[in-house]
Order: sequence, then structure tokens, then C-alpha cells
Amino acid sequence: MVVTRVLSCTPANLGEAIAEAAAVLRRGGLVAFPTETVYGLGANALDSDAVSRIFAAKGRPANNPLIVHFADVGQVERVAADWPEQAARLAERFWPGPLTLVLPRREGVPDIVTAGGPTVAVRVPAHPVAQALLAAVDLPIAAPSANRSNRLSPTRAEHVLRDLDGLVELILDGGATQGGIESAVLDLTAHPPRLLRPGLIGPAAIEAVIGPVARQASAAQDTTQPLPSPGMLSRHYAPRTPLELAADDAARVKELAAAGLRVGWVSQSAASNPGDGVVQVVLPEDASGYAAQLYAALHELDRCGLDRIVVARPPQGNEWLGVLDRLKRASAKEG
Ligand code: TXA
Ligand code: MG
Repeated sequence: MVVTRVLSCTPANLGEAIAEAAAVLRRGGLVAFPTETVYGLGANALDSDAVSRIFAAKGRPANNPLIVHFADVGQVERVAADWPEQAARLAERFWPGPLTLVLPRREGVPDIVTAGGPTVAVRVPAHPVAQALLAAVDLPIAAPSANRSNRLSPTRAEHVLRDLDGLVELILDGGATQGGIESAVLDLTAHPPRLLRPGLIGPAAIEAVIGPVARQASAAQDTTQPLPSPGMLSRHYAPRTPLELAADDAARVKELAAAGLRVGWVSQSAASNPGDGVVQVVLPEDASGYAAQLYAALHELDRCGLDRIVVARPPQGNEWLGVLDRLKRASAKEG
């Protein structure tokens, strides 16, 4: 166990906080920091011992590789063996920002970062605190979301503290993150490129830059189909309270409440009388506003000691793919 310190990143003390965080990273420690998507749990990607601490703190299986973060695109060649034309065009359009690119890995990148695979995932985050930290430390920083494995990603410093107190040296508190769901992950070593995880940058926006991409092989795009086999859609991004997606959410909430369950209800319009024992959270009607608040809402409901969380199925449409993917995984059975 270590003593976890939280440093708030106000304009007045940003310089000091960043210097301290960079020092922790250089000596092989862990630093949680805000990105524009969710908080990351960072370590020096070139130091296997430091990276192994990330896996230990999260309880993350060793076969799940990490994203390596940089302050700017010029640094990526420190870990990637190739920088294809498509990568250059995407970086020009979307970096810094919530898009992760999977590229052939360079020799010398520790196996633990890539889970022993031939590729490495890279991204340049846009958050000013992440930018300042990455520029100051001048190292490739491996950073998964700063939560225990398979749990909800953190969008606030307090979420990180609840999950990782005593497991991380330093948390940089940069307030609530803006994006709210994790970056889109695009595999550029596949032909055509393959979208492994949708995010706030959707397939249509990516295709406008590089042409056709293959979509991930989950039911996330098709809201009418039942969930595929649990192996294809492992439970992830999940609150502790069992969560279900409902087309007729009002009826489902009523039914569960009538059976005596305490229910959390996430919808996009307020019910005048949600019912006894029902805690309702209303999220914005636009996809980006919804994504920004989703995890914070689920973190809050998870603390209410409820029996069930019912989430109204979000609307159809490309801009909802990232949100829908996370909700489907959150509602998947343990597997
Ligand atoms: O927004 C984000 O991406 C956040 C912030 C902190 O940058 N990070 C994040 O990391 O969500 P994580 O570890 O929670 O999710 C990374 C995803 C995982 O699904 C992982 O399997 C995939 O990216 N990934 C990482 N390296 C990969 C690789 N070489 N090939 C394929 N997938 C990879
Ligand atoms: Mg994660």
C-alpha cells in the first residue's frame, strides 16, 4: 500500500502539481490524471516494473494491452514501427483528441504494455492537464482508465480515489472530464481498418477521412437484436448494481418497484411520479451531453444501495454508438 495524495490542478498550482507528478512517473510510480475522455492510470511505458504496478492496482488480466499516451504526434515513433498515411490523416484531423490508433509496435516496447502482441495502441489526449504532464515528463505513458478492472471508468478524481486509494501515489484532480466515455480504438494494422471500440468519434467521421472501416463484431449497432453470447460481449464498464437496458423503461421500473425492489432509473425525460423507492436520474437528450454525464450518474446510483439500475434504451443513430456499446457491456451478464 502507498499513501495516495490528491493534488488539485488550479491555474495557480498547475506547474507545481505537474512537476511532482512527472517526478513520480520518472521514478516508476503511478499517477492518475484527467484526459478529455476519462481519468487514466499512468506509468512510464518503457519501465516494465512500473507498468506491472498498473496491472496489479487494477486487477487487470495480463492479456489486455494498454494505450500509450504522448504529448504530440511527433513522439509516436518512439513506440510505433510504422506511421501509415491513414494514421497521418487521422492524427491531423482528430489529435489531440479521443481517438486511439493501433499500429505495429517497435522493438524495445516492453511486452507487458502490448500483452506480448505485435501491435501497440497510441493516442494524444487533448486535456490540458494530460498535455502538460506528458510534455513535462517527456516519456511514453501507458494509461488504462483509472478504475478496478471491469468497473466503471472514472470521470472525476473522487471516482479514482474510491477505487484506487492506497494503490496509486498521486491523483491529479482536474475536475469532471468533458467526454465521459473512453476513446474510440481503431486498428490500422487490419485491412480495412477495424473499429475495435466506438467512442465519441464515430465510424462515419473516421470514414470521411480514410474511407471504409470494419465495425466491431458486437451487437452494439443493432438495438433490436438480443445480446450475443457472453464471450463476445464480456461484462465491462459496469456498476456493482445489476444494470439492465429497457425499451419500455417506465413499465419495467414500475414492475420492479411493485415487486419491492429499490430501483435506479436513468432516462432522458423526468417522470412526474417515478414511484416509491425509485431514484431517477435524467440525462441530456444529445449524445455528447449524455456521454459526459453517464458514468457519473452510474457511480452515484451505485452508492445508493439499490437492487437494480434500469436504463432507458438510448435513441438509434451513429452518434449513440459509443454510449450504446458501454451500456450493452454494463448490462452483460458476468462471464
Ligand atoms: O479514453 C481512453 O482511451 C482512456 C484514457 C485514459 O486514455 N483509456 C482507456 O484505456 O480507456 P483502457 O485500457 O481502459 O482501454 C483500452 C482499450 C482496451 O479495450 C484494450 O484492449 C485496447 O484498448 N487495446 C490496447 N492496446 C491494444 C492493441 N495493441 N490492440 C488492440 N486493442 C488494444
Ligand atoms: Mg478501461
